[in-house]
Amino acid sequence: MKTVIQKTSPLKGTITVPGDKSISHRSIMFGALAEGVTRVTNFLMADDCLSTISVFRKMGITIDVSDKEILVHGKGLHGLSKPDETLYTGNSGTTTRLISGILAAQDFECRLTGDASIEKRPMKRIMTPLSMMGADIVSEKDNGCVPLIIKGKKLHAIDYSSPVASAQVKSSVLLAGLYADGITSVTEPALSRNHTEVMLKGFGADVTSNGLTASIKPASNLYACDIDVPSDISSAAYFIVAALLVPGSELLIKNVGINPTRAGIIEIVKNMGGKIKLQNERISGGEKTADIYVEYSRDCLKGTTVSGDIIPALIDEIPVIAILAAYASGTTTIKDAAELHVKECDRIDAMDNNLKILGADITATDDGMIIKGNGHLNGGTIKSYNDHRISMSFAIAGLISDSPVTIDDEKCVSISYPTFFSTLESL
Ligand code: S3P
Repeated sequence: MKTVIQKTSPLKGTITVPGDKSISHRSIMFGALAEGVTRVTNFLMADDCLSTISVFRKMGITIDVSDKEILVHGKGLHGLSKPDETLYTGNSGTTTRLISGILAAQDFECRLTGDASIEKRPMKRIMTPLSMMGADIVSEKDNGCVPLIIKGKKLHAIDYSSPVASAQVKSSVLLAGLYADGITSVTEPALSRNHTEVMLKGFGADVTSNGLTASIKPASNLYACDIDVPSDISSAAYFIVAALLVPGSELLIKNVGINPTRAGIIEIVKNMGGKIKLQNERISGGEKTADIYVEYSRDCLKGTTVSGDIIPALIDEIPVIAILAAYASGTTTIKDAAELHVKECDRIDAMDNNLKILGADITATDDGMIIKGNGHLNGGTIKSYNDHRISMSFAIAGLISDSPVTIDDEKCVSISYPTFFSTLESL
């Protein structure tokens, strides 16, 4: 369905955004492999996480869903059962890649596939290290993508040097490492989000992190625990940028996860001159959280360079950072972000095409984009490319563009943030 977003009055007040997607996925996966009942509050009820629930239900795990909480009735590391049908992971890269690491060690064979976007996303990046561990994992079409046929095997420990900074790759290998015959290590070129390491420790696994290397010892048991999921900084990012850009705005976003491996956007907003403050910083379940206070700052926003080690800490926020850059004075250069080509859509192409439609001065590069901000965007009709983060980024652009922004199909926001438009309207 088409959605039209137009100029708005100041965004004022206090909001909460839904639970963190990465942590919600992991709470189901690790809960399923643990002994006992894992209780999850503030779980993200969005399509991607529902795919994870559905996949584990198909492997015999009882998961009770209510408004208040999710209860995962874990069956232990060896308690999954062979699914009767293909496991369908929808649009979710996290589900697909992380469960592949688990499936590589089960005593059954199964088939894994996803939607049209997942069918194009690279799986070689997990097939390679898992095969090094002894996994039997085959791409049915021999194109390095799903459908994957995974036959569980006895796995060997490896020291893997990953060519990409990817938490999905790291987590897939660490999960396989739970079942291996020694210490499995993954070293990345830059530190990606570390929720797997933090959470697996909470479930009783022996995980250590040393700089860019994470290691895990094989486990005989994981133990259920309670998880209160912090709000997702990737979802908060849309409202951070909205408040920075809509004149007169003052917004408090409560209880957001600010794990340093995720919170790169806060540093970039500060570098650009945006007025953003963290309040009430605390640790909950091993994860840092805070309330984020943002004020209108368009008049003082300046371009910056976004590159290097910070990229994995804001990889999902780059589309909305690009919107911010279009309104800042001067040039913003985003580089070292070639991973954007292989997200839910090619996000470099999508931002380049759509921002050009709105009249921005943007040049796509192999590993990012260069945006010369000129303080305004025209309106126009943009394509979502069926990518939730592209839709939400351009919805924010529509709040301040000279004329309305029409999004060709906004349904995809349900992947990570089903209530996005109602929160926007409430403001
Ligand atoms: C995720 C890791 C990131 C991120 C994705 C969620 C995760 O992907 O883009 O939305 O939960 O591990 P990569 O690890 O492939 O960069």
